[in-house]
Amino acid sequence: MGEKERQDGFEAPQTHGEDASAVETSGVEGPREPRAKRRWPIVVGCVALVLALAGAGLFAWHQTPGFCNAVCHVPMDNYVQGYFEDESLCANAHYRAGTSCLDCHEPKLEEQVAEGLAWVRGDFRVDENGDIATVGVTADEKMCTQGGCHDMKDVIAATADWGGEAGVNPHESHQGAPIDCSNCHGVHKVSNMYCNACHDYLTPEGWTNPA
Ligand code: HEC
Ligand code: HEC
Ligand code: HEC
Repeated sequence: MGEKERQDGFEAPQTHGEDASAVETSGVEGPREPRAKRRWPIVVGCVALVLALAGAGLFAWHQTPGFCNAVCHVPMDNYVQGYFEDESLCANAHYRAGTSCLDCHEPKLEEQVAEGLAWVRGDFRVDENGDIATVGVTADEKMCTQGGCHDMKDVIAATADWGGEAGVNPHESHQGAPIDCSNCHGVHKVSNMYCNACHDYLTPEGWTNPA
């Protein structure tokens, strides 16, 4: 027994009592085979489990708003805080309706890689307030209608004869499709009654008018 253990010493961690007795009965050239066979599923199982946990954990975490400012730290705090706490923001209305950051900000692989590299290098830019510098993301019809979130027929109907003026509708006007939702609706910022650059229509409460 002592002799055998010294010979197989380098594999000792995997050799339990039962293995040792199996070795003794299986003859001279037998010892390594059964153990090698039995170790395989354990190794494969462990690797698969670790990968599954890491994958599931990171993926799930990435879906949560906390990921955005945990990883980028201070620069994205405003976006995350407004989303959770500022009831005047469209972002908060979406939070209350169960819409996550990534439901709107569709994660594209190139962007994720670019963001990841920027984070590793620490070279993302911030504005004068210390918030992450914007790259001009806007909400268009595609962003807002994806996944069946908003049905434009309902949206148009909701603002028909706006302000009680027949034929006036911010969602259907001579401005047409070229004006994106972001011309009026701010998600992380105050909304703006775009039409009033030229008209004098009703301005929803809490909205600004074009200067
Ligand atoms: C309802 C859709 C929606 C949700 C939910 C949302 N965003 Fe946004 N986000 C936008 C839109 C639209 C803009 C463009 C600016 C605006 O309207 O405030 C934007 C702009 C941004 C920007 C600036 C982008 C740029 O470079 O121009 C950041 C950063 C950001 N969002 C982060 C977040 C984070 C973090 C969350 C979750 C806590 C989140 N967003 C949730 C729609 C959304
Ligand atoms: C010209 C300005 C303007 C544009 C552009 C605009 N909206 Fe609106 N939207 C409004 C106004 C004004 C309201 C009414 C807000 C209120 O009553 O507080 C509104 C309300 C809404 C509502 C709430 C409707 C309801 O059921 O009460 C949704 C959803 C909406 N808009 C989606 C969109 C989408 C999606 C786009 C882009 C495809 C868009 N809007 C473009 C001005 C605009
Ligand atoms: C760049 C300036 C400008 C903007 C922005 C603008 N309009 Fe107009 N609009 C005009 C002009 C000019 C006319 C035609 C002259 C007129 O009769 O006032 C007009 C006419 C109209 C009319 C026809 C009835 C009328 O008053 O004669 C409606 C309705 C209208 N606009 C709605 C809108 C809506 C809704 C928006 C926002 C989505 C909008 N407009 C944005 C300039 C603008």
